[in-house]
Amino acid sequence: MTPTETHPQSIDALLNQMTLEEQVALLAGADVWRTLPIPRLNIPSLKVSDGPAGVRGGGSLVGGTPTAAFPVGIALGASWNTELLREIGMALAQEAHDKGASALLAPTINLFRSTLNGRNFESYAEDPYLTGTLATAYVQGLQAEGVAATVKHFVGNESEYQRNTISSDIPERAMRELYLRPFEMVVKDARPWAIMSSYNKVNGTYVSESTHLLMDILRGEWGFDGLVVSDWGGTYSGGESLRAGLDLEMPGPGQARQELLELAQHDPATREAVRRGAGNVLRLIERTGILAQARDASDGAEQGVEHEEARALIRRAGAEGTVLLKNDGSLLPLPAGARVAVIGPNAASAQVMGGGSAQMNAHRKVSPLEGLRAALGEDRVTYALGCDNDRYLPTLDVPVRIDYLGQDGEVIATEEKQGSEVMWASFPEGIQPESFRARLSLTLTSPQDAEYDLSLYSAGLSRLTVDSEEIIDNWTNWQPGDTYFAFGSNEVRARQFLSAGEHTAVVEVTPKAVEKSVAGFSAVRLGFRALLEANALQEAAQIAAQADYAVVCVGTTGEWETEGVDRQGLNLPGQQNELVRVVRAANPRTIVLLQTGGPVLMPWLDSVPALLQGWFPGQEAGHAFADVLTGRADPGGRLPQTFVSRLSDDPTHPETPDLQYPGENGHVEYKEGLFIGYRHVDDAGTQPLFPFGFGLSYSTFELSNARMSAERIVPGDSVTVSVTVTNTGQCWGQTVAQLYVRDMDVKLKRPYKELKGFAKVSLKPGEAETVEVQLDMRSLAYFDDDRKVWVADAGGFELLLGQNSVDLPIDLKFTLDSEWIQELHWKRM
Ligand code: BGC
Repeated sequence: MTPTETHPQSIDALLNQMTLEEQVALLAGADVWRTLPIPRLNIPSLKVSDGPAGVRGGGSLVGGTPTAAFPVGIALGASWNTELLREIGMALAQEAHDKGASALLAPTINLFRSTLNGRNFESYAEDPYLTGTLATAYVQGLQAEGVAATVKHFVGNESEYQRNTISSDIPERAMRELYLRPFEMVVKDARPWAIMSSYNKVNGTYVSESTHLLMDILRGEWGFDGLVVSDWGGTYSGGESLRAGLDLEMPGPGQARQELLELAQHDPATREAVRRGAGNVLRLIERTGILAQARDASDGAEQGVEHEEARALIRRAGAEGTVLLKNDGSLLPLPAGARVAVIGPNAASAQVMGGGSAQMNAHRKVSPLEGLRAALGEDRVTYALGCDNDRYLPTLDVPVRIDYLGQDGEVIATEEKQGSEVMWASFPEGIQPESFRARLSLTLTSPQDAEYDLSLYSAGLSRLTVDSEEIIDNWTNWQPGDTYFAFGSNEVRARQFLSAGEHTAVVEVTPKAVEKSVAGFSAVRLGFRALLEANALQEAAQIAAQADYAVVCVGTTGEWETEGVDRQGLNLPGQQNELVRVVRAANPRTIVLLQTGGPVLMPWLDSVPALLQGWFPGQEAGHAFADVLTGRADPGGRLPQTFVSRLSDDPTHPETPDLQYPGENGHVEYKEGLFIGYRHVDDAGTQPLFPFGFGLSYSTFELSNARMSAERIVPGDSVTVSVTVTNTGQCWGQTVAQLYVRDMDVKLKRPYKELKGFAKVSLKPGEAETVEVQLDMRSLAYFDDDRKVWVADAGGFELLLGQNSVDLPIDLKFTLDSEWIQELHWKRM
């Protein structure tokens, strides 16, 4: 049977054949990752997967099918490389096919409003234009290969604090010019097949219940014709959310949607909304090609195959996003034959991704130590840990037996898993997610007679015994904490003497009654670690002194930068600042390799000659860093975020008045309006540690010969700007020509300048290339919140060109003859 024979009808015809029950059934998932199939009509189930830096597949957040881990959002944001994002989108489609997923829950395009947002690592940038441009390419790449993008989180989810209840109170101009803007660009330019509504409210109304956002703006003004899916557990009503434009409740089975059928039977408006929502679900199924094939894309097992091309792409992308922030005396790249001491908590432990729903079971995690050993030779590289930086004690990679217990403590089912963290995505038959009782058994091996640290945290109650002695009680005194999307406890630690040898650890777990939206979500993590040697810092200094160069790998991890909670501050955790200090004192040729999801304080900055920001660049991290450190690759990254010198320079730090961050009593007020990131730097005159757009190459570049297509324009015209970029240095390298627009005759207060164009250029020494940027009227305009129109004021505009947001040596001026206005064209869908 050919596809057309299977489904000859239009979606309308299909809807006509469906009963109301069937239409309603389509509006909530069948399970956590799938829509409901309707076999009678050959309508298959559609599987979705997180997202965004890889395709995790349909299992648990930990220990799922192995998959390729790509650079996180901020690392891609730092690449400023649109073509790279397109390639990554295409490669992710391949990964999605391997996992039987037809939609990827990606990309994340919320902006960096507060430096402390726990999820900044997942998004691209503080700037809407950079974010929108990169996201457009990613979505185009993904969808060109038949996999739906699910652009998220629409909208106003700029921090994790109380995200399920908080209202982001956003002034209209900031909403239009900043937070909606990347979504608008992607919807108009890449036509995504799905959008995910955010958990939060905007100006008092849940986004998933906002007709204004979902109908008037998204569909009416921008012409979005895809599916709106809730964030997981972010559907707060049945009929209301559906009528407002939220099509699909996830995960399933539906909770908020249970009353829908009855409602629809009596209320014509709801019935109409049911048909519309079901049609949008069908359209997504059709677009991904699985309707025509009349088979579940999720048929068959998930494939954990590793593609060599994906590995090469991830490695290249890692270097493309790595930002060289300092390189005094051209210390880098390392010369051939260099002997290098690789030091620090992120040296042997590869930090390749952030935490939360973006995590996955990577095929591999190449550490900086491994990468440098492969590049320089084993005998040229020494290693010392120096100190720790983990937030929680590390897990054990050992087999774990899970016995599920019956009423009388008898074993009624058993499973085997690997690793001392378990997040339940499914249960053996007959085991109730809301009320099970499980006993996890594993072997602890202590290398010597000594004290060890042990820890537990859990979503659900838990307790730990070692050799039958109770060590941790996280049961009788369970307290809500920060773990597991804020549904878990805090970590409870104990220090215990253990004799050398094997010990039996048993963890008991049972669910705790939790909020309705996550009923049945249970997880537990056992941590175990030997105490750090007392002379760990000195050892690090010693090997640094003996080497030609020291590379200190410091930063955070996915435990600090994660969904569900915000970052606690800008200090590097543990003794890492001290580690940099002692290593630098031992060897002046110290290079700091920083891996974080955003700015941190760097009290040692003046004393170290070289600094690289490497983010979390995916599974090939160590190889990508080695490429940059040895000069095999140029550090291609430029900061997509202002690196503040101190937290109080962030317009939304916790001491700001007026509930600006993290908010209170259910409200976070975006009172800073348009002035975030470099817009705030310009407005407040603060001195960033490193400005937006900044990053060095191993070569040097000059911009010259800047031209505009016209010096006077009339409303409706566009301006073409060209500039010649020349590599004036000694080696191949890359730079980003950046173009900012300044309105010289403003009627309303506007940011001093705004990014409106960029071009990444790769050149050999002496080579030159002329790049062009097109500016349309919207590039000049702001949103007039009185008149409710986009306006470009008549008068002068200045174009500022350079290689970062504070070094803009070229300026061109032109005049707009008269005011340009664009009305909001919308039709209620
Ligand atoms: C996150 C989404 C994610 C979803 C499914 C939510 O907690 O906010 O980004 O796609 O879970 O894992």
